Formats: sequence, structure tokens, C-alpha cells
Amino acid sequence: MRKPYMAGNWKMNLDRAGALELAGALREHVGQREDVEVAVAPAFVYLRDVIELLKGSPIRVGAQNACAEASGAFTGEVSPVMLRDIGCDFVILGHSERRHVYGETDADINRKVHLALEHDLDVVLCVGETLEEREANKTEAVVKRHMTAGMTGLSEAQSRRVTIAYEPVWAIGTGLNATPEQAGDVHTYLRGVLEGLYGAAVAETTRIQYGGSVKPANVAELMSVDGVDGALVGGASLKADSFASIVDFGG
Ligand code: 13P
Repeated sequence: MRKPYMAGNWKMNLDRAGALELAGALREHVGQREDVEVAVAPAFVYLRDVIELLKGSPIRVGAQNACAEASGAFTGEVSPVMLRDIGCDFVILGHSERRHVYGETDADINRKVHLALEHDLDVVLCVGETLEEREANKTEAVVKRHMTAGMTGLSEAQSRRVTIAYEPVWAIGTGLNATPEQAGDVHTYLRGVLEGLYGAAVAETTRIQYGGSVKPANVAELMSVDGVDGALVGGASLKADSFASIVDFGG
């Protein structure tokens, strides 16, 4: 069985006090629950504070990006080695905002995936089509390319440390979530591609999150879809009561 995996991507939001308040409230809500995996991805500058605050809690803390180089003259970048050093557990890579706002390519993302795994960080690899690509019937081709290219060269053992997040670009921050049918189709398709790449055992155990306008009101329906194993949540993860409700599948 795949344990549901609910992650909050805080993006470039909250100040230090707000990040700590939110993390503290989530710590209380989650307690020592084992039926669901919960994670947060604060901005780089607050990672250490949130990691400290969540010590002893099962809530995982990760970064929203990492450099494709371990060290050196890369002004403004943050290495996965540094993230691991301060106690990060995972990193989100290939988010659509990284692809579309900052021009990251599949090759860049693949290098980041390799380096993160080499330095003991789990990876949430984001894939997803734009509206234009969906309307041109390119959804499957795009998500397959994002996933296959992002995971190129990984061993089977490494692939087991990757969670896939299907985030249709047209659903991110728009209030317009994928329908359960749309999400189900893509998740089933991606699991089939994973099986082709790494075999049935990996496909069976790899979690595929859905992301894009997930909120308390639609999470139950999305989580009821076969093959939707969790959520990667932006806006609705910034308030404790709404993310707590999402962690509880809307309950
Ligand atoms: P929203 O939940 O705000 O649509 O953002 C989704 C997302 O990009 C999570 O990574």
C-alpha cells in the first residue's frame, strides 16, 4: 500500500514568524500520526528554523529547489549538500514555476535529481502540461517526457526515492483543479510509464501526488481517485486550518 503523502509547497510566502506559527500548528495537528505522510517546503531562509521546530515530529521538511552543482562559484545558488547538512529531508525539483519562469530544462532537472539523490535527499519530481499542450492533445507526451527525462540514468534503488507530482500548469494557482477523471487518466498513464522504466514493483510503490488548486473542498474527491496518492499544495497550504483539513482529506 502507498501511504498518502500530503505536502505543502509554501513557495515565496510567509515571513519567519508566520512560517514558525504555521509549522507549530501543523505539528500539533499531525501529532505522531502514521496513516499519512505530511511534508512542508518553506523558503530556503526559513528551512533551518522550521526543521528545528519540527524535531520529533514526523512532518518532513524539504526545499523547493536545489542547484545542480555540489559547490563552487554559483552565486545565489543553494547546494543539495548544504540542504542535507542543515537537516532537509527532500527537495522539490522541476516545479512548473522553475520550468516556465526560470527556464529550467529537462536536462537541468535531471542533473539536479541525480545530485540530490547522491546527497541523500528524497525528490519530489514535478511534471505537467500547459493549457496549450492539453488542448493540442499533448498531455501524455509532455508528462512522459518530464518524468522520463527527469529520471534518466537513475538506478532502481534511486527511483524508489522519487515521488512524482502531477501538476497541470493550468491548474496551479488558478482555482481550477483537474477533474477526478483528468487526474486519474494522467496518474494511470504515468504509472504505466514507470512500470516500463523500472518494473511493476517500483510502479506499484511510487507515489504520484496531484497538485493544482487542491483545497479542503476538493481534496476528498481527488484522493478518492485510483492512483492519486497525495497532494502537493500551494495556496491552501499557507493557512494551518486549511492544510490541516487537506491532511485529513477534507474532514
Ligand atoms: P496551488 O495549490 O496554489 O494551485 O499550487 C500548486 C503548486 O504549484 C504546488 O507545488
